[in-house]
Amino acid sequence: MANNARILGIESSCDDTAAAVVANGKVLSSEIFSQQVHTRFGGVVPELASRAHQQRIVPVVRTALQKAGVAPSDLTAVAVTRGPGLAGSLLVGLGFARAYAFGLGVPVVGINHLEGHICSALIGRDLPEHPWLCLIVSGGHTQLALVEEGLALRILGTTRDDAAGEAFDKVARLLDLGYPGGPAIDRLAAQGDPAFYPFPRARLDGYDFSFSGLKTSVLYYLNGLGEKKREALLQRRLSDICASFQEAVVDMLIDALHRAIGETGVRDVHVVGGVSANSRLRQRAETLGETCGVRMHIPPPAYCIDNAAMIAFAAYIRLSIGQTDLPDNPVAEPNLPLATFP
Ligand code: KG4
Ligand code: ZN
Repeated sequence: MANNARILGIESSCDDTAAAVVANGKVLSSEIFSQQVHTRFGGVVPELASRAHQQRIVPVVRTALQKAGVAPSDLTAVAVTRGPGLAGSLLVGLGFARAYAFGLGVPVVGINHLEGHICSALIGRDLPEHPWLCLIVSGGHTQLALVEEGLALRILGTTRDDAAGEAFDKVARLLDLGYPGGPAIDRLAAQGDPAFYPFPRARLDGYDFSFSGLKTSVLYYLNGLGEKKREALLQRRLSDICASFQEAVVDMLIDALHRAIGETGVRDVHVVGGVSANSRLRQRAETLGETCGVRMHIPPPAYCIDNAAMIAFAAYIRLSIGQTDLPDNPVAEPNLPLATFP
């Protein structure tokens, strides 16, 4: 089936309504509608996200099919995110995908959103030799995993509190930079001095991460200045603060990756998820790859953030490696853990 697979992917786990068509492992189209309705609230409002998904899902799917030049009747499967994510948001994508697939008489395949991120770095290339490392850094997750066979993996480390993207978003809120904060901090940091202020780097046992102390230290630093000084500093040194905070996050991620490469002896490493769009992380990860002699795979930014190409592609990979025992009656699983797929 995988050789003739024409898969429609649907992603609606958070605040992006996305659809894509993947045919025989090639991405023919990838449409993302990023909901703007949350910006003024400084974070995703679940009820508004579900409503926006419901408004956008049909036009987004229609555009994805049109751009791919694929008729609905040509599709061989529909792949959809079943979790983790916001329950109401997942339900919109799942409800649409199940009904659409039912109408077309094709299977609907439920995909773990995090598995989608892992597969985003495989788009356009073959599966690497096992084992390989994968650092998943998004708004909801920060995990380091070793993929040992097929897409089966062992989690080496996870965040004990905030996810890396969450830390970017919370610090951006402290700095009045709007939501999502990662891209704004990235842009400002590009002109800033990463050595301006030594924000703390947490180093836990093993490969676990912690970002909430860093976020709190930015808060204490700003509060400790008093109002006048703070205003003046934010006017003059905002990009330096952004660069210093960003460097602390990147240092923690690169440090764990460096140790894991040494201890596992892998030849291939994936860095995926929304935060892997960060220009400093990309640069430092590339340099780490060269230093350690490993192949560093970081998807283009459009496949780092939430998208449906990675969901359709994950289904394609599973079908290609003969894993047909996919949930064919998927339901929303908001707390679906990464380790549930075989
Ligand atoms: O993967 P994603 O789109 O959604 C989740 O699955 O969570 O990741 C979104 C996260 C947000 O926290 C956003 O601030 C962060 O990725 N992000 C970035 C950048 N672009 C997106 N963080 C740092 N630098 C960026 N350029
Ligand atoms: Zn994601």
